Amino acid sequence: MSTAVSIGRQTAAHDRVREVPLFDLTGQRQRLGGRIEARIDEVLKHGQFILGPEVDEVEARLAEFCGARHAIAVSSGRDALTMALMALGVGPGDAVFVPGFTFSATAGAIAPLGADPVFVDVDLKSFNMDPAALDAAIVEVVAEGRLTPRVVMPVDLYGLPADYPAIGEVAARHGMTVLADAAQSFGGAMAGRHVGQLAPISATSFYPTKPLGAYGDGGAIFTEDGDLADAVRQIRTHGRQGSGDEAMRLGMTGRLDTIQAAVLLVKLEGFEAELRHRADAAAAYTEMLSEVVATPALPSSSVSAWALYTIRTPGRDRLKERLDRARIGSGLFYRVPLHRHPALQKWVPEGLTLPVSERLADEVLSLPIHADITEAEIHYVTGQVLAALD
Ligand SMILES: Cc1ncc(COP(=O)(O)O)c(C=O)c1O
Repeated sequence: MSTAVSIGRQTAAHDRVREVPLFDLTGQRQRLGGRIEARIDEVLKHGQFILGPEVDEVEARLAEFCGARHAIAVSSGRDALTMALMALGVGPGDAVFVPGFTFSATAGAIAPLGADPVFVDVDLKSFNMDPAALDAAIVEVVAEGRLTPRVVMPVDLYGLPADYPAIGEVAARHGMTVLADAAQSFGGAMAGRHVGQLAPISATSFYPTKPLGAYGDGGAIFTEDGDLADAVRQIRTHGRQGSGDEAMRLGMTGRLDTIQAAVLLVKLEGFEAELRHRADAAAAYTEMLSEVVATPALPSSSVSAWALYTIRTPGRDRLKERLDRARIGSGLFYRVPLHRHPALQKWVPEGLTLPVSERLADEVLSLPIHADITEAEIHYVTGQVLAALD
């Protein structure tokens, strides 16, 4: 094992590592707790729990961070996807193309609108939607004639932006738009542009264990398009325009709580440094593990937010058992590809196989990564992985 790896955060020499959780927010809480409590206290004092001034402030900070013209703070990542689809006018008879290998919420955000999710296979190395498979799936839907292809919804799995240039080209050729499921990738970038600017409309999540996590549910929508932004603002407050009584369109209860906005404002201040730490931790893992397992691809023009560090090995289940015994938290994201979920069977064409998604479901394993992981913890994890696969 290389000892050249340095990620800047050390475990004290006397703290022999005996346990490494998959996610750990305690270090961040120690660093930021006092400031977060002070900002929450301000909200308790002014009492504007819904759409208070912190929501406007966090929207401005989020837009500034990622360079998007409009940022709209909403109730969760899943709601962000649904509201973006509502703003795009997606409904019954429309097809929305999603990768077969993602969290179930990607498809769950589509079905309640009466539209059909269409499952597309992914690329083995990037884990993200395969543009050639997307093109073939759209051609098939057009030939069948039952649905109108409307939206492509790539996912930035584990924090790595999808191949937006290629996917955008396919979507444009078929007269479709792209909605980025960037739930895992806020903080990532591609060719010098941040997540939030990579698609005409993007949705992210502030679930507590996401790279930028709130202390509860939360999410945001980013777009350059003022009309879409206005539509989303109406939709998140029951379709109302500002404080008007009339519902201008059908909406939902989709706002980010003011208290969560206050938490995010503090977390945003240190977010760049946390992203760098995650990237250093990922580089350390890759340096130590790339000869024994498939380590995550990182195209040279891409920046991952490293929501998860995910390796691939045919000995995955044996490895997981060993890590469990060594008290190392690991995750199987995702053990079930989308087209195998019971709740989604209605939208799965008979005989559909997605070979790469199915293979990944058997081979992926996510290792601990978070904003405060130490060098000693990474050495402990890699030591156990190397011993298990020896
Ligand atoms: C790819 C993906 N899409 C959507 C979501 C939903 O986000 P939320 O939990 O904030 O609703 C998640 C959350 O884990 C996700 O990973």
